[in-house]
Amino acid sequence: MGAEAPEIRVLGPQDAADYRALRLFALECEPEAFSADLEEARGHGLDWFRNRLDLPPPSATFGAFFGGTLVGAASLIVETSRKMSHRGLVAGVFVSPEARGRGVAARLLGGLVDHATDRLDVLDLAVGTYNAPARALYLRLGFTPYGLMRDALRVNGRSIDEEMMSLDLRTRARRPASD
Ligand SMILES: CC(C)(COP(=O)(O)OP(=O)(O)OC[C@H]1O[C@@H](n2cnc3c(N)ncnc32)[C@H](O)[C@@H]1OP(=O)(O)O)[C@@H](O)C(=O)NCCC(=O)NCCS
Repeated sequence: MGAEAPEIRVLGPQDAADYRALRLFALECEPEAFSADLEEARGHGLDWFRNRLDLPPPSATFGAFFGGTLVGAASLIVETSRKMSHRGLVAGVFVSPEARGRGVAARLLGGLVDHATDRLDVLDLAVGTYNAPARALYLRLGFTPYGLMRDALRVNGRSIDEEMMSLDLRTRARRPASD
């Protein structure tokens, strides 16, 4: 891994095996950072991950690659309900430890926010109050904290408070989207 920029692209069902491996690794390394559970995720077969990477647009999972190896991912999940289809949830943000501190997450999230800006009005996310790197990343991208969910997750006996953040995309320049 040199000093080059990662390739960022939307993942599809053909990336399911790589995505599954990265996701299980993420849940194993950083259980406090995700609401998904490692043992539950291990029970999901490849078809579950193919479906996860085949959600109807504008939902999308962005992947970051160095030399063809998937080193990071971030998902945008949009409810299909008409009453909620203006909002998107940012979830599953993870960069492999050896690729951190090089702007990978900033590029992944930058791609996701650009994609969302052309299609949605608001982005939401939740981040553990303990998680200084992730909080700094989201604040830098313009997310605003609006609330605190106490005891949001319980992980191996530890209670995690989560800060709720949102980003109003209507203040950003838009381009017409084709999907
Ligand atoms: C949070 C995470 C995705 C950051 O990935 P990364 O590729 O290392 O981040 P980047 O190099 O793109 O950094 C982007 C910004 O994030 C913040 N940041 C990243 N790492 C940081 C650290 N260790 N300490 C403080 N801020 C940090 C900074 O604002 C940084 O901008 P700057 O470099 O201009 O100061 C990564 O640490 C990770 O996967 N953590 C475990 C999983 C997790 O917490 N996911 C989020 C769940 S809500």
